[in-house]
Amino acid sequence: MKCRKCGKAAVINMRQHRLALCQECFLAWVPEQVQRAIERFDMFAPNDRVLVAVSGGKDSLSLWDILLRLGYAADGVYINLGISDGEYSDLSQRRAEQFARQYGATLHVIDVAQRYGRSIPEVARRKRGRSTCGTCGLVKRHIMNELACEAGYSALATGHNMDDEAAVLFQNALHWATGYLARQAPVLPASHPRLACKVKPLVRLYEREMAAYALVRGIDYIYAECPYSKGATTLFYKDLLNELEVRSPGAKQQFYLHFLQARNEGRLLPLEEQEVELGECTRCGQPTTAPELCAFCRLWEVETAAQNRHSHAARTEGL
Ligand code: AMP
Ligand code: FES
Ligand code: ZN
Repeated sequence: MKCRKCGKAAVINMRQHRLALCQECFLAWVPEQVQRAIERFDMFAPNDRVLVAVSGGKDSLSLWDILLRLGYAADGVYINLGISDGEYSDLSQRRAEQFARQYGATLHVIDVAQRYGRSIPEVARRKRGRSTCGTCGLVKRHIMNELACEAGYSALATGHNMDDEAAVLFQNALHWATGYLARQAPVLPASHPRLACKVKPLVRLYEREMAAYALVRGIDYIYAECPYSKGATTLFYKDLLNELEVRSPGAKQQFYLHFLQARNEGRLLPLEEQEVELGECTRCGQPTTAPELCAFCRLWEVETAAQNRHSHAARTEGL
């Protein structure tokens, strides 16, 4: 197969675009798609400072690489969650640090256990009713948002690609979770001084394209998935959508892009429904819908109460 742009041997065929490209043209095409998403969804301006949330995986490291190639002032943040199975967290931290060194870029590293006293698996074990991934997501969102606001970044960028977004959309649509559907967007503007603007510049790209990009660019990323993500329902939905894609190339893209179009035109949900009343957490000051403490602060609070009960029981038993 030949590259449609220059006629050299193609390295990738993207059936949904009816486009085969050689290595060189593909490496130019991917940043073009990202730039189009940035402009189309008004994510940030050329002189804005952007904070990229890097997990050490292919998507977020490629995103960082692309933003730097496009000339954006992009720093990174890596959150060490303390997941030690297969040294998952330490290994991914090394990948993020190695990238930062190689590119001469700034990386903020935040170690959850060092800063808050416990790793994610430890907190999750003590906190009933919330899964490890749920706890992890809550902690990551809080830390990233806090850093982005305090350090004055214009936007916080994550490496979610179109497959991620389509799978979440599928899940939300299956449950008609209208609140989540209303908030699922490539850009969430800063609706409060302590809420960072959140952007997903890779939404136009399939996961397969991101894997090819990382490979062709020679980006050294962690291949292993988080041990807690095994059997996750979103992975199942991704597989289902990929089956659909095999039969009907472009189906995944249409599903997601038509949703965005309907959402933006207000055809999907009444826009007023999207307004939420926000107060401030009495401990950390971050916006919350809860009356006193935000969910993040409650996480450590409940844990402390459980710990107290535990140590009280231990002391009583010792008598
Ligand atoms: P995930 O929720 O693991 O699919 O990750 C989605 C996005 O969140 C990634 O593309 C990253 O941008 C960001 N992210 C995930 N894990 C971390 C982490 N440990 N530190 C910083 N950012 C992360
Ligand atoms: Fe957070 Fe897996 S990355 S639980
Ligand atoms: Zn709080």
